[in-house]
Amino acid sequence: METVQGIGELREILDASDPGCSVGLVPTMGNLHAGHLSLMAASLDRCDLTVATIFVNPLQFGPHEDLEGYPRTFAEDHAQLEDAGVDLLFAPHETEIYPEGRSAQTAVSVPGISTELCGASRPGHFDGVTTVVLKLFNIARPNVAFFGRKDYQQLTIIANMTRHLNVPVEIVGVDTVRADDGLALSSRNRYLDDAQRAVAPRLYATLQDTADALRTGENDLPGLERTALGCLQAAGFEPDYVSIRDALTLAKPDPHARSLVILGAARLGRARLIDNLCLERT
Ligand code: PAJ
Repeated sequence: METVQGIGELREILDASDPGCSVGLVPTMGNLHAGHLSLMAASLDRCDLTVATIFVNPLQFGPHEDLEGYPRTFAEDHAQLEDAGVDLLFAPHETEIYPEGRSAQTAVSVPGISTELCGASRPGHFDGVTTVVLKLFNIARPNVAFFGRKDYQQLTIIANMTRHLNVPVEIVGVDTVRADDGLALSSRNRYLDDAQRAVAPRLYATLQDTADALRTGENDLPGLERTALGCLQAAGFEPDYVSIRDALTLAKPDPHARSLVILGAARLGRARLIDNLCLERT
């Protein structure tokens, strides 16, 4: 695996590759776990050349979020990517991505859903995500880019941006990788102590209970959301939201919408956990 920090170097390697070869891009912020590696596997499976990126993007962190404390584990990440068979790792410094400074950077903003759900409690977060992802698309010019369904709102917003701006890249969503007890793998799980780690799977379990109720014909969506929030609170979470949405658009669903997604976010100690579950109603 070749590892490069500069855009010029990355372009040289990509420009020298076989013109017919398909390029898969997997953007990450590092501290890799099996969830990230499943995205790498999807790209290796589908594309001739897989480019992973590691960049802890300051633009997507709010002023009181964990930018400084975000786990940086480059040596371990590098070894995992090498073992996985990734072809190329792009790990730029901030000055390579934002040479004129963070505040001078042109931003990309997807309207509507960027300010809802996680966007409501993390103002500017999704603009930071779309801005860096579009830059990475323009830098690496992939044919296909892979994102986790764990960050369902992020995936939807990136798909919208790509469609709205006619970016010639196919966006592929990859299923969430979970621990045996159901907890979605996340770099932020390391903030949980043992007692909190034991409670954490209740987030997904609550979404499953909500899905079961929907499947049995319960149609009072606000009532189901309130019940789920109550369950999370009783388990020891500080819930941010539980919301039942249209799986395609993330709009509030009309009463007969078939494809739904239940999204939840809740704090547990220092960790802010998110998860989601898609379901088809018959
Ligand atoms: P990061 O949190 O490092 O996640 C990188 C990718 O891994 C995202 O597409 C995320 O959805 C996916 N991922 C994380 N946990 C997963 C799991 N348990 N199962 C499957 N996929 C999982 O998301 C970001 O970085 C950033 O916002 C980024 C897109 C890189 C832009 O800076």
